[in-house]
Amino acid sequence: MKSYRTNSINNLHKISVAPMMDCTDKHFRMIMRKISSKALLYTEMIVAQSLIYTKKKEQFLSFNPEERPLSIQFGGDNPQMLKEAAKMAQDWGYDEINFNVGCPSPRVCAGNFGASLMKEPTKVAKCIESLKNNCNLPVTIKHRIGVDEDDSLDKLDSFVKEVANAGADRFTVHARKAILKGLNPKQNRTIPPLKYEVVQKLKKLNPQLLIEVNGGFTNIDQCIKALNNFDGVMIGRSAYKYPLRWSEIDQKIYGQNITHKKPSEIIFSLIPYIEDHIKLGGRTWDICKHLINLVEGIPKAKIWRNQISTKSIKKELSIKYLVQLTSELQEMGY
Ligand SMILES: Cc1cc2nc3c(=O)[nH]c(=O)nc-3n(C[C@H](O)[C@H](O)[C@H](O)COP(=O)(O)O)c2cc1C
Repeated sequence: MKSYRTNSINNLHKISVAPMMDCTDKHFRMIMRKISSKALLYTEMIVAQSLIYTKKKEQFLSFNPEERPLSIQFGGDNPQMLKEAAKMAQDWGYDEINFNVGCPSPRVCAGNFGASLMKEPTKVAKCIESLKNNCNLPVTIKHRIGVDEDDSLDKLDSFVKEVANAGADRFTVHARKAILKGLNPKQNRTIPPLKYEVVQKLKKLNPQLLIEVNGGFTNIDQCIKALNNFDGVMIGRSAYKYPLRWSEIDQKIYGQNITHKKPSEIIFSLIPYIEDHIKLGGRTWDICKHLINLVEGIPKAKIWRNQISTKSIKKELSIKYLVQLTSELQEMGY
C-alpha cells in the first residue's frame, strides 16, 4: 500500500461554517463570530487567477482579526497561480487555506476547476502540493463524494489517498455527488441524495485522516451525533438563514461555560463595527442584509426585518434608529 503523509494539524475545528458565495463575506463572518468564538469560518471562494490579476487585492483579502480562526478558500487549477495565492494568504494572516473541488457551477467547471477537477486527482494533488510548498499554513480540501459517473467508493478513496499524499491536512466532504450536466448549482445542493454512509466508509478506510462531513445539517444535536463518526461538521445554509439556531456551539460542542446570547446582545455588540464601516464609506445594508436573519422565530420578527431592510436599502437607517429597534427587541426579552 502506498504510504501517505498523515495530517499535521490538530483537530481544533469540530464545527465550521461553510464557504458560500455572496453570503460568507467579512460582515456575515463578524456576525457569526459573535455567535460562536470557536467555529472555523471560511471566506467565499476566491479564484486564484482573479486574485493574482486584480489591482484590488485588499477587497479580496482584507478581514477583521476578530474573525479568526479563518480559512481562505481558493478555486483554480494552475499550480503556479496557487503558489502566488498561497503566499498572499500567509502574508495577510489567514489561519488556513482551503482548496475547492466541490463547486458544480458551469462557469467554474468551464475553467476546469471546482467539482470537475475531482475527475483529475493528479492535477488536484499538484495544486495541493503547490499550496503546501509555498506557505506554512494547513492546506485543506473541500470536495464531493463523486462527480457524474465517477461516483464509486473506490474512486473516492483513491482520490483522497492521492490528495493526502500531496499533503492535504483535512478533507471536507459534501456528502452528495455533483451532476455536472443537467443540474444547476442550486439543484446540485438538493437533488443528488445525501449519503453520509459513504463519507463514513471513507473515514473507516482512512482513520488517520481528518474528515469533516458537510451537507444538510440543521441543528446542533445532529452535529453532536455526527461527531461520533467524523472529525468535524460543516454547516452551510442553515447557519446563514438561521444563525441564532447555532448560538450554543461554544457550550454544547466546545464545553464552554457561557450563557447563549440573545439577538439584541449580538446586534448591540456589532454597533461599533457598523459605525466603523459607515465611517469608511460603507452602507448599512452591507451588514444589515445578513443581520436581519438574526431576528426570526419571535413575535414581530417580520416587521423588525422589514423596517431594517427598507430603511437600510434606501440608505435611511441611522445607528440611532437601529439602536432604538434593537432596544425594543431587548425589552421584549430577545
Ligand atoms: C449560496 C451558496 C453559495 C455557495 N458557495 C460556495 C463556495 O463559494 N465554495 C464552496 O466550496 N461551496 C459553496 N457552497 C456550498 C456550501 O459550502 C455547502 O457545501 C453546501 O451548501 C452544503 O451544505 P449545507 O447543506 O449545510 O448548506 C455554496 C452554497 C450556497 C447555498
